[in-house]
Amino acid sequence: MNDKERVAKHAANQVTDGMLVGLGTGSTANCFIEELAQRSREQGLKVTTVASSVVSAIKAQQLGLPVLGFEQVSHVDMYVDGADEVSPELTLLKGQGADLVREKLLAVASEQFLVLVEPSKLVEQIGQNFAIPIEVMPFAWQLIKKQLEASGGRGDLRQNANKNGFAMSSYGSLILDMSFDEHIDAETLNDILNSIPGIVEHGIFYGLATTVLIGVNGQVQERRAGGFQ
Ligand code: A5P
Repeated sequence: MNDKERVAKHAANQVTDGMLVGLGTGSTANCFIEELAQRSREQGLKVTTVASSVVSAIKAQQLGLPVLGFEQVSHVDMYVDGADEVSPELTLLKGQGADLVREKLLAVASEQFLVLVEPSKLVEQIGQNFAIPIEVMPFAWQLIKKQLEASGGRGDLRQNANKNGFAMSSYGSLILDMSFDEHIDAETLNDILNSIPGIVEHGIFYGLATTVLIGVNGQVQERRAGGFQ
């Protein structure tokens, strides 16, 4: 078992009977879905799930987990997902995929938000390794880009995988990948991005993670919001 699988198993072991579990998207979330399905199969664990992406919904269904439609859900017990960056204060950067809106909805709705990472995701400051993904209403991208530039942002529309057009989110938004001056802290940046009209959602998850589980050298380290453990 590698560290990613170990940390996913650790998270799956924290799920209890009757929970509604939010499923993230990405390679780490995939490991978690597999571990959860295994517990359900082998230990009779009774859960329902809701997925942050179509890909994760299909994977969960194929493994026999019951998946609710997003519109059926008003509360989530535990949301488990990966992240692209995690700061010492447990602010996250997410959204290198195209399912940011659902991811943030689940993070906000969940009683517990468990984030599973490898040590390479730990950074001193959000934005250290990746630009901030910002989903925008397509017709407003130029207006928004200008406002972001006025706040010190630099960047452009994300290109699609074939580099012959622009990437679109699952819900038809364009994505601006923007970098900001390192002196702007994540809280300030979160406030700026929340205040600009036409931004559908952005990749800074501020004050949302309850627990970060780090798989390192065969061990699982745990950091909780409000202090280290
Ligand atoms: C998806 O939009 C992202 O937020 C993912 O959670 C993130 O990219 C982590 O992916 P991996 O688990 O594949 O590293």
